[in-house]
Amino acid sequence: LLFPPSFLHSEHVYRDDEQRGLDEQIVINFSHVVAENTPKGLAAQKFAKVVNERSDGKVKVEVFSNSVLYSDTEEVDALRRNDVQMIAPSFSKLADLNEDWLLFDLPFMFKDEGEVEAALNGQIGKSLQASLKKENLKGLAFWNNGFKQMTSSQKKLAVPDDFKGQRFRIMPSEVIKKQFDLLDAKPTIAPFNRVYESLEKQEFDGQENTISNIYSKRLYMLQRYMTISNHGYLGYAVMMDESYWNSLPPDVQLLLSNAMEETTAWMWEHSKGMNDQQLEKIKSESSIQVHYLTEQERDKWKQRFKPLYTEFQKRLTKDIVEETYKK
Ligand code: LMR
Repeated sequence: LLFPPSFLHSEHVYRDDEQRGLDEQIVINFSHVVAENTPKGLAAQKFAKVVNERSDGKVKVEVFSNSVLYSDTEEVDALRRNDVQMIAPSFSKLADLNEDWLLFDLPFMFKDEGEVEAALNGQIGKSLQASLKKENLKGLAFWNNGFKQMTSSQKKLAVPDDFKGQRFRIMPSEVIKKQFDLLDAKPTIAPFNRVYESLEKQEFDGQENTISNIYSKRLYMLQRYMTISNHGYLGYAVMMDESYWNSLPPDVQLLLSNAMEETTAWMWEHSKGMNDQQLEKIKSESSIQVHYLTEQERDKWKQRFKPLYTEFQKRLTKDIVEETYKK
């Protein structure tokens, strides 16, 4: 790091006296953990560009990708301390704030991204936003990455028994942990910025992620098998600390909201295409064996996951469960 994070505060970079002058630039540092050529990475850049251009230099959004400032285990605390002003953690990493985020980790819960988008734009999204507010976090948008695929260095993953005994890196989600437990695999939580290294050191046999994360972090170079399973969903809550948001002048808040709306629409439109294109690149750049999960195989996975559905149907907020099963 060139500068310690505290040096990057808007106050420290642009203040030369103790008063924030009216025409002083507002700097918003946006930290995330993935590569730049991913839906989240590109959306963060687009958001920064729109804000920087439209504010005539009054507001500057600076994006720090690839966990250069904070890993995913540190970013919520960094936001609360105002060491960064914007983050976009995946839903799975917010489950310790509110269990309802786990809905999206339940395998095969949503048929496609359209269904997820409808849920996030409806009651479910409203309730999740409200849960952020309770934590003094200002939810700005839901961003999409897509559905996750399974990879392994050991064995083709087609039926549940194929997972037996294999070690998988997982995000900190109880649903994901139970999913692998039910497959008789060995799940271990690790931050995203350690996935490549730990696969390389053979601390894990496999992992689950979206194509864009598998491609941009070159995980496919360390894995021999990939199953296009589209089993769990990976989305992001873009957020600020509520007190920081409230400290911004109303015209800046409006500018940010408008830029966020435009960026969010753009990213939902393009994220699937990005993942599809990168799947083709993975196939052409490596010898990884790609298997498309068949309907019969998927039924076997679902059968295996039954206890997971039963447990979380009881645990998640009733309205959220009803809304999801209604569709
Ligand atoms: C992961 O940890 O695998 C992902 O949540 C990373 C991300 O932000 O997409």
